[in-house]
Amino acid sequence: MKILFIILSLFLLSCGSKSPSTSSSNGTPDTTLTGDISNGNTIYINGLAGQDACIKCHGTDGAGTGATSTAVTSVDLKSKSNAQIENAITNGRSSGGITMPDFSYSPQEITDIISYIRTL
Ligand code: HEC
Repeated sequence: MKILFIILSLFLLSCGSKSPSTSSSNGTPDTTLTGDISNGNTIYINGLAGQDACIKCHGTDGAGTGATSTAVTSVDLKSKSNAQIENAITNGRSSGGITMPDFSYSPQEITDIISYIRTL
């Protein structure tokens, strides 16, 4: 019985000594990123590297109103989850004859845009 207890203790000790995995290469969103609202504002209003600005279709308030030529009034960005916004940015959307392009923004830039949208 004593031997069993020792074996069990050694087993538990060896488990506890394993260092926690810090890998983030499994495709899950990196929740360690902190959004930069001001940079998100710049991307939303100006776009980056020749890519369309969100404001062009989603307006100054994220609900398609404001200074826009191709207003998308069917969505209110503030009501969308972070995952929905990220998905729309990376995969694009299409509705009512307007096509939202798929943007090649980095995870940090997407986090910045989401942080900005949350302030609208
Ligand atoms: C050329 C116009 C255009 C631009 C530019 C554009 N979008 Fe869109 N967006 C659309 C259209 C069209 C839809 C689909 C509307 C619908 O489903 O009724 C959409 C939908 C969305 C949705 C909703 C997705 C869902 O699952 O319901 C989000 C979030 C979004 N856009 C975010 C953005 C962000 C952030 C940017 C800037 C990086 C951006 N869009 C730039 C046209 C655009």
